[in-house]
Amino acid sequence: MKSLNILFDDVEEQSNSLAAIGPRLQPVKSFSVFDHPICLAHPLRLTASTWLTHIPFGMALIDILQPGVLVELGTFSGVSYSAFCQAVKELRLGTRCYAIDTWEGDAHGGYYGSEVLADLRQHHDLLYGDFSELIQSSFNDALNRFENGSIDLLHIDGLHTYAAVKQDFENWLPKMSQRGVILFHDICVKEADFGVWRLWGELKAQYANFEMTHGYGLGLLAVGSMLPEQLKAFVSTNGDLEAIRQQFYQLGMRVEEQLTREQTIATQQKAIKELENTVAKFRNNPLFRTYHWLKYLGRR
Ligand SMILES: C[S@@+](CC[C@H](N)C(=O)[O-])C[C@H]1O[C@@H](n2cnc3c(N)ncnc32)[C@H](O)[C@@H]1O
Repeated sequence: MKSLNILFDDVEEQSNSLAAIGPRLQPVKSFSVFDHPICLAHPLRLTASTWLTHIPFGMALIDILQPGVLVELGTFSGVSYSAFCQAVKELRLGTRCYAIDTWEGDAHGGYYGSEVLADLRQHHDLLYGDFSELIQSSFNDALNRFENGSIDLLHIDGLHTYAAVKQDFENWLPKMSQRGVILFHDICVKEADFGVWRLWGELKAQYANFEMTHGYGLGLLAVGSMLPEQLKAFVSTNGDLEAIRQQFYQLGMRVEEQLTREQTIATQQKAIKELENTVAKFRNNPLFRTYHWLKYLGRR
């Protein structure tokens, strides 16, 4: 029998190798994802997007903020926006939601045709049409649809140059309510002329904030003078922040794995269907039938 010391050594060795696989999840006193089970929901709109791993956080944020009005600048196929809407619906909140996009594309993500909006409408209208609107417009042209001080949650995810994102921020800031929160995607991307990281660096020195570095980076800026109570865990400096980030990173990775699994199943189902069609064609071939018939006669 192993001595206790050897057993303890084994346990330590095992936990060290676990740590090498991935960072350990630390218990967090100030925040638990289990207080917001919506972040464990299966996303109904699961398509490829650089936003995918932020879905659990986006859903939890809806539960935490319970916004009266939510606006998204830059929606494309609707991965982030549909996650917000799904949370609003499942939590039975009274949030009014607005997605603004030309649905033509831009210099960073590339340009696309009308099929993207048509596909999103098919998903969106039936599920969320009673509290949400897809506004096909430039961000600037849509500005006068919103009163100053009326938006509680704004997600900025349009063109990612420094000049564009700064203009989006400055144009829409007056629209934010006293408990307003703005999300910025891609705060960690430093390639080419991406410049959200630079604006984020300037803004986070001025406002309470929370940032996550996975999924190209997502930054949360509390721009209102009244910080929502539940957000305090995110903007405090009590040392739990890394553990909170870890929780959302792990949940985000699950979403990415879900998409990979669903895509693999779809590919396999397609291959099975093609094989079944080939077999059916072969069975109906007169030569094959004759061969079968002769083989049957030969056996008698
Ligand atoms: C990065 S994509 C949005 C991604 C999306 N949030 C997701 O979850 O995958 C950026 C979108 O912003 C739109 N866009 C960029 N600049 C715009 C502007 N000034 N006005 C309206 N739409 C704009 C583009 O058409 C594109 O669909």
